[in-house]
Amino acid sequence: MSSVIPWASPLAQYRAHQAPIQTAINRVLNSGTYILGAEVEAFENAFAEYCGHGHAVGVASGTDALILALKALGIGPGDEVITVSHTAVATVAAILAVGATPVLVDVDEVYLTLDPAALVHVATPSSKAVIAVHLYGQAADLDPILSFARERKLVLIEDCAQACGGRYRGRRLGSIGDIGCFSFYPTKNLGAIGDGGIVLTREPELAERVRRLRQYGWDDGRQTHEAGLNSRLDPLQAAILHAKLPHLDRDNARRGAIAQRYERGLQALPITIPSERAGAQHAYHLYVVACMQRDALMAYLAEHQIGCAIHYPVPVHRQHGYAERVILPSGGLPMTERVCQQILSLPLYPELSDADVDSVIAAVRGFFARQDA
Ligand SMILES: Cc1ncc(COP(=O)(O)O)c(C=O)c1O
Repeated sequence: MSSVIPWASPLAQYRAHQAPIQTAINRVLNSGTYILGAEVEAFENAFAEYCGHGHAVGVASGTDALILALKALGIGPGDEVITVSHTAVATVAAILAVGATPVLVDVDEVYLTLDPAALVHVATPSSKAVIAVHLYGQAADLDPILSFARERKLVLIEDCAQACGGRYRGRRLGSIGDIGCFSFYPTKNLGAIGDGGIVLTREPELAERVRRLRQYGWDDGRQTHEAGLNSRLDPLQAAILHAKLPHLDRDNARRGAIAQRYERGLQALPITIPSERAGAQHAYHLYVVACMQRDALMAYLAEHQIGCAIHYPVPVHRQHGYAERVILPSGGLPMTERVCQQILSLPLYPELSDADVDSVIAAVRGFFARQDA
């Protein structure tokens, strides 16, 4: 094998959508509107419609989407927000950014998403919200999480950064809890050519508050009601995302087909392949396997020109700057500690060819054959 197979390829995405992206960029350049305006509004409306409901507010990143959602929900100092440690650090950074305290729970063994049974052990009178992360594109188990949240009067925020287009019991992720937060980081299922994010909610007042908070707290007449940020979705990114949105379901279907090809090809090896939650549609942002010889497998694949990544090697509660600022359950997070030693993300993006998938499968099989020899 001569060329490298990367684990993700935003360049291949760009090339696959090059013509509509260039048209969108030219339209914005010639519009003379370079902050917010019609392009951002048109994409917000299209995205809300794609998700099947409500109001969408474009913001500067997925992290800002979470920060603005928390702020709009009135969450701040003295409040506790429950989420997982096995996530992108951004989920927890957003909680700290609003002055609230992250309370981190474990993930379940099979799907690696928030274990609903863990919630009862950590909820206190200071708990205000749960952030369910749809990690790797796999839906968190929203039914029990939502019923716990309703019972305890907690708000449910969906972190959909990795799961754009996925579903749970037929509904789009992000449209089920009180508010959904998405990232358009270039490698994401709907990726921009830079940073971007969006907040989705069915509550018009909540959407309006996010809209004000993303721009200093201004209302339409540029009067402030409360202090906010500058976190606007760039119209260039909005136009690009709008051009790509009609292709998202097809791209996600290709991701699913690659996952199935991996599943068939990786049978009967000492590795755990992803399980799809019944009743949910996995968005396959990442194809994450687990195995005891993870580091050796990763090194072997690198020798064979196959790029892999670890999402994530160090859980948030063990990272500097975070470890001392989070609350953990008394028994710790044993599953989180275990999985981060074993997980490996194999190459997955819509433009990956079947031949490349087969090369990855052959190399993984080659690694274990060598072990057996
Ligand atoms: C689960 C999760 N939440 C939040 C974010 C933050 O998104 P962004 O990088 O757009 O700020 C990411 C992106 O890496 C993510 O994977």
